[in-house]
Amino acid sequence: MHAKKIAALCAIFSISIQLLCACGKEQADGLNQIRVGVASYNQSDTFLSGLVECLKESIHSYDEKGYETTVMLRDAASSQRKQDDQLKELVDAGCNVLCVNLVDRSAPSEIIDLAKEYDIPVIFFNREPVAEDIMQWDRLYYVGAPAEQSGVMQGELAAELIHSNPQTDRNRDGKIQYVVLEGEPGHQDAIIRTENAVDTLRSKGIELEKLSYGIANWNRAQAENRMLQMISQYQSKIELVLANNDDMALGAIDAYEKLNYTESALPVFFGIDGTDSALQAVKEGKLAGTVYNDKERQGQVMAKLAVAVVTGERMAEVKFENDRYIYVPYKSGTGHF
Ligand code: GAL
Ligand code: CA
Repeated sequence: MHAKKIAALCAIFSISIQLLCACGKEQADGLNQIRVGVASYNQSDTFLSGLVECLKESIHSYDEKGYETTVMLRDAASSQRKQDDQLKELVDAGCNVLCVNLVDRSAPSEIIDLAKEYDIPVIFFNREPVAEDIMQWDRLYYVGAPAEQSGVMQGELAAELIHSNPQTDRNRDGKIQYVVLEGEPGHQDAIIRTENAVDTLRSKGIELEKLSYGIANWNRAQAENRMLQMISQYQSKIELVLANNDDMALGAIDAYEKLNYTESALPVFFGIDGTDSALQAVKEGKLAGTVYNDKERQGQVMAKLAVAVVTGERMAEVKFENDRYIYVPYKSGTGHF
C-alpha cells in the first residue's frame, strides 16, 4: 500500500517536472506567442472586412488555450506597392506569421522574398496566387474557397427559381435575357463564378440570352452605375441579373429603385457571399438568392494554420489539398445559413 502511494507520488512529481520544463521551453523560445500580421487588399470591401474580423476573433480565441496572440492589421487600399511596404513594417514589428490578402494576386514576389529572408511563413488568403508562386517555398500556404462551387450553386438557385416561376421569362420568348455584373478582372472569383453559373443554368435546361455585362469590381456604387447604363440600353428587357458578389447585386437593385421600376418590370437578382445586407434583402424579397461564402470557417482554418506553422504543433491535423492549399466549401440556400 505504502509503496504504491510513493510510486504514485513519484509519477505525479515527474509529470509536473516535465510540464514545468515544457512551459519553460515554450516561454524561452517564444513559441506560445502568435504574432500575426494581417494585410488586407482593401478594408472598404464588405466581405473582406467581415472575413478579417472573423480571422481576428479566431486568432484571439487561442488565448484561452495558453497562447499569447496579437494581430496587427494593415489596409493596402488597393495599392500593391503600399502593401509591400506594409509587410516590411509587419516584419519589423516582430510578426512571426503573415496572412496576406494580395492586392495584385499576380505580384507576390516581393512578399515571398521578404518572407524567405526572415523565415516567416505566409498564409495567402481570398486572392489566390498562381501555383508557381506558392511552390517557390515550402512555408507558403493558401486558404480560400472553391470559386467553381459558388458559381454552380448560384446557377442552381437561379434555375430552381426560373423553373418554379415561369413568369421570370417576362416576354415569354422561352429564353431568359440576362446580364452579368463582374468582379475585378483577373480575380479567381470573377470569371469562374460567371462561367459556372451560366453553364449550370444551361445544364438545367434553361435557354439563355446574354444581353450585356458590366465590370463593377465587387463594389455596390460601381454596380449601380453599370446597371443604370445597361437599363438605359435594354429598358425592361432584362429578366435576370447574375452578380459575382452580393454588393454588386445590391447595387443593381439600387439602380432599379432609383428609376422607380414597378415590381412586375423587375428582373430577378442573384449574388454570392451572404453578407448581412444581402441576407436582409433576401428576407425582404428583393434579392432572389445568395451563396454563403463561409468567412467564419475561413477565419478558423487560417487561425489554426497560423498557430500550427508558428509552433510546429498539430501540423499533421491540417488537411491540405495539393500540399499547401485549403479550400473552405460554400453553403447554398436562400438566405438561412
Ligand atoms: C470574393 C468575394 C467578394 C470580394 C472579393 C475580394 O471572394 O466574394 O465580395 O470580397 O473576394 O477579393
Ligand atoms: Ca425572355
